[in-house]
Amino acid sequence: MSEESTPDDHELRVSKIRDGTVIDHVRGGQALNVLAIVGIDGSEGEEVSVGMNVPSDRLARKDIVKVEGRELSQDEVDVLSLIAPDATINIVREFEVEEKHRVEPPETVEGVLSCPNPGCITTGDEPVDSRFEVLEDGVRCDFCGTIVREGIADLIET
Ligand code: CTP
Ligand code: ZN
Repeated sequence: MSEESTPDDHELRVSKIRDGTVIDHVRGGQALNVLAIVGIDGSEGEEVSVGMNVPSDRLARKDIVKVEGRELSQDEVDVLSLIAPDATINIVREFEVEEKHRVEPPETVEGVLSCPNPGCITTGDEPVDSRFEVLEDGVRCDFCGTIVREGIADLIET
């Protein structure tokens, strides 16, 4: 129990899950972007719990996302490194944390971000999937070369 581990903490803010994935140590305010990136909007009946701006010892405030019944793969979660570089991915089985990973920046992200350049081929009428190269400090559109360093979350395709 990370955020709830102090003995004087009487309340478990977000319930434990039985089987699924806990995305922990998400930067405060990014939980909804995390859900958008992994493509979970609740429309398929997924059981999802979200804690926002909860106290944390490692970050001043953190968000936490718990998805019951789905084990997200490393590939699925690596793209989260763009908006939640400190995130920890916990795979839970029968209430126990069976695997714990950090997110790792992928080399490219496809179909996740939309290019802010209105003249880019990916934003025109022709359906071309977006593709960005992941840089140390941002992302670069593979088609038009536009580099985005700030506000990557605003580019997330919905
Ligand atoms: N968790 C959960 N359901 C479970 C088990 C764990 O929701 N059945 C959550 C915990 O609440 C915590 C996260 O998964 O937010 C990681 O759990 P755990 O590894 O037990 O906590 P810590 O050791 O504190 O994790 P870390 O070192 O990564 O902070
Ligand atoms: Zn572009």
